[in-house]
Amino acid sequence: MAFKNLLRGAAVAAFLASKVEAVDNGLAITPQMGWDNWNSFGCDVSETLLLQTAQLIVDYGLKDLGYHYVILDDCWSIGRNASHNNSLIANPEKFPNGMAAVADQLHALGLGFGMYSDAGKYTCGGYAGSLGYETVDANTFAEWGVDYLKYDNCFNMGQAGNQMISSARYEVMANALNATGRPILYSLCNWGEDYPWNWGSTIANSWRISGDVYDSWDQPDSRCPCDGPDAWNCGLPGFHCSVTNIMNKASFIVSKAQPGAWNDLDMLEVGNGAMTDAEYVAHFSMWAAAKSPLILGNDIRVVPAKDLAILSNAAVIAVNQDPSGSSAARRWMYSTDSTDAYGGSALQLWSGSLKSTTGGQYNDMVVLLINGANETMVMNATLADIFVDSGAAGTARQVKISWEARDLWANRMSEAEAQAIIDASSATGNATNGYNATMVGSGRYNATKTSYAQGLKNNDTLLLGNVTTTVGPSGTVTATVERHGAALFRLRALPTGVKKRDEL
Ligand code: GLA
Repeated sequence: MAFKNLLRGAAVAAFLASKVEAVDNGLAITPQMGWDNWNSFGCDVSETLLLQTAQLIVDYGLKDLGYHYVILDDCWSIGRNASHNNSLIANPEKFPNGMAAVADQLHALGLGFGMYSDAGKYTCGGYAGSLGYETVDANTFAEWGVDYLKYDNCFNMGQAGNQMISSARYEVMANALNATGRPILYSLCNWGEDYPWNWGSTIANSWRISGDVYDSWDQPDSRCPCDGPDAWNCGLPGFHCSVTNIMNKASFIVSKAQPGAWNDLDMLEVGNGAMTDAEYVAHFSMWAAAKSPLILGNDIRVVPAKDLAILSNAAVIAVNQDPSGSSAARRWMYSTDSTDAYGGSALQLWSGSLKSTTGGQYNDMVVLLINGANETMVMNATLADIFVDSGAAGTARQVKISWEARDLWANRMSEAEAQAIIDASSATGNATNGYNATMVGSGRYNATKTSYAQGLKNNDTLLLGNVTTTVGPSGTVTATVERHGAALFRLRALPTGVKKRDEL
C-alpha cells in the first residue's frame, strides 16, 4: 500500500515536473528579464552599444535584480556565407570582433546573450531570415555562445493563417535549437498571429501577444488596428500599440501563462520619455502582474533617475518572479465620466494568486488598481471581487479573514538614491569615488545571490512592500490613484484562530 502510494506520488511529481517545464529546456521558469535595443535604437546596433549597456546593467544593480539577457535585435547581419554552409555573417563594421567575442564579454559580466532572427525569408528590417536555414543558424548561434533567441515573423512567405501552419514553422527552429544541446531560451515574436498562446507553450518559452508596443498610454493608432472586446482576435497586429491596448489584449489570455511559457506583452517603454511617471509606474506594474517577460527597452546610458527607480523596484519584480507563475486576471473594468483626450476613462481591477509568504494556508494575493480616467480617483476593490476565483459573490473563505495590504510602491527608491547610483558608475564616466554603483545604497535586493523565491520564503522586507492598512473580513482595499496611474498591493493573510480575550 505504502509502495503504491509512493508510486502514485512519483507519478504526480513527474507530471508536475513535466507541467512546469513546458518547452522542456528548463529555462524561463519565471518570466525572463533583460534588455533589448529595439525600442530605443532600432537598427542602430553595435558591439559598443551592447557592451556599454551591459556594463551599466551591472553597475546600476539591474543585473542583481535579475535583468540577465542583453538582446541584440534586428539589423546585425550582412547576409550569408556561401562558402561556409550558408551561415549568417555578422556586420563587421558594427561587430568588429565578431559575435562570439560579444558573447564572451557578456558572459564574463555574468549576463546572457540574446540574438534575433526571423521565421521568414527576411527579417522585419530586410536582412537575411532563417526560414529554410534553421539548422545552420541554430548551430551558428550555439557556436557563438548565444543564450536566447527572439524569433520574428516578417516575410513568412504565406506560411501563416492557421495555428498548424504557424506552429509548424516555429517548431522547426525549436527543434534546431534543442538539437544544438545548448540551452537557448526561445522567444516567439509573431505578434499574437494564429493564437500562439494555444501552441507556443509546447515549443517555446514565450510568445508575443500583440503588435509592437509604443511609448504611449492610450493613444489610438490605425497602424495597430485591433482594440476593444475582440482585440485578442487580431489578423493584423501592426505596430504603435499603446500600453492600454496591449493590456486589453492580455486580459483575455492570462490563463495561458505558466512556468516556462509566458505571454509576452512586448518590451518595456519605461525611460523612453513619452509617458508620465504615473503611466510608467502603471505600465511596469501591469507587465509585472501579468507575468510578462520584463525586457528593458530604454537607452540605459541616459536613464533618468526616476525611471531607474521604477525599474529597480524589487517588491514589484518579486510579483513578476513569483514561483507560482500564475498571471493576475482582470476582475472588472468600467468607464467613468472623466475622459482623457483619447477617450480613455476606464478603471480596472486585476488580482492574482501569489505564493504564500506566511507559510500558512492562504496564498498572498496581488491587487492592481489602474486608473485610466483623466483625474485622480479614489479606487475601491472588495475582497469579494479580489478573491472571486475562490468563490463567487463573496463566498470565498479568503473573504472571511483579515489581510495586510502591503503597498508595493511605498518603498520606491528615491530619485536622489537612483541619481547617486548613476553618478557612481564607472561606465558613465561619472564615478568620483571609484566604487561600483552596486555598492551604493544599503538594502538593494540581489537576486543573483538569493532568488526571489528564496527571498519571499525568507520574508525579505525588500520584497514585501510596506503595510499600508489592514483589511477586515468582507472589507475593501482602497487607494487614491493618480490619473493614468496604478496602485499595487500584496495582500498577506493575518493569522486567524487567535481568539479575542472576551471570547475565551
Ligand atoms: C518586429 C518586432 C519588433 C522588432 C522589429 C525589428 O516589428 O515585433 O519587436 O524586433 O521587428 O525589425
